[in-house]
Amino acid sequence: MDFKNKIIWITGASSGIGKGLAKELSKNDCKLILSSRRQESLEAVKSECQQPESIAILPFDLGDYENLKPIAEKAIQLFGKIDILINNGGISQRSLVIDTNISVDKRLMEVNYLGTVGLSKALSCFRQF
Ligand SMILES: NC(=O)c1ccc[n+]([C@@H]2O[C@H](COP(=O)([O-])OP(=O)(O)OC[C@H]3O[C@@H](n4cnc5c(N)ncnc54)[C@H](OP(=O)(O)O)[C@@H]3O)[C@@H](O)[C@H]2O)c1
Repeated sequence: MDFKNKIIWITGASSGIGKGLAKELSKNDCKLILSSRRQESLEAVKSECQQPESIAILPFDLGDYENLKPIAEKAIQLFGKIDILINNGGISQRSLVIDTNISVDKRLMEVNYLGTVGLSKALSCFRQF
């Protein structure tokens, strides 16, 4: 896929896969929006990317899944539109079922499922795809 001139929004961009994606995609002459909760970590990732002037930071919490429309609107305003949304942000848990309180499962569903669906729906409200 040719990413040249694309506007790409990556969630979970402050570490791991999202950080790696940001660094690789920044080599493609595209515009990037990097999101996660931790602004300082996003700034650090931005500084490690190519062409940091083509990269914007937009911190938010996927757990706030019912209130993501203003975030989607802000993201569109940064570069005029979004071509690609990479729904990578999320949490994982490694523990035995017997040791894992249901509150952990609830949080996983809120962030990983409802956060992802909420953000995709919020962005689709603006019908710019
Ligand atoms: N690596 C694997 O083997 C594997 C396997 C299956 C699924 N996954 C999933 O793939 C994705 C990336 O994995 P990874 O290994 O790169 O994980 P990671 O290094 O832990 O990165 C997760 C990213 O999601 C962000 N994040 C976490 N909670 C958030 C929240 N409430 N709101 C907004 N952003 C949030 C984190 O940033 P902040 O802390 O700054 O918010 C971070 O940037 C995750 O969703 C993970 O669950 C990974």
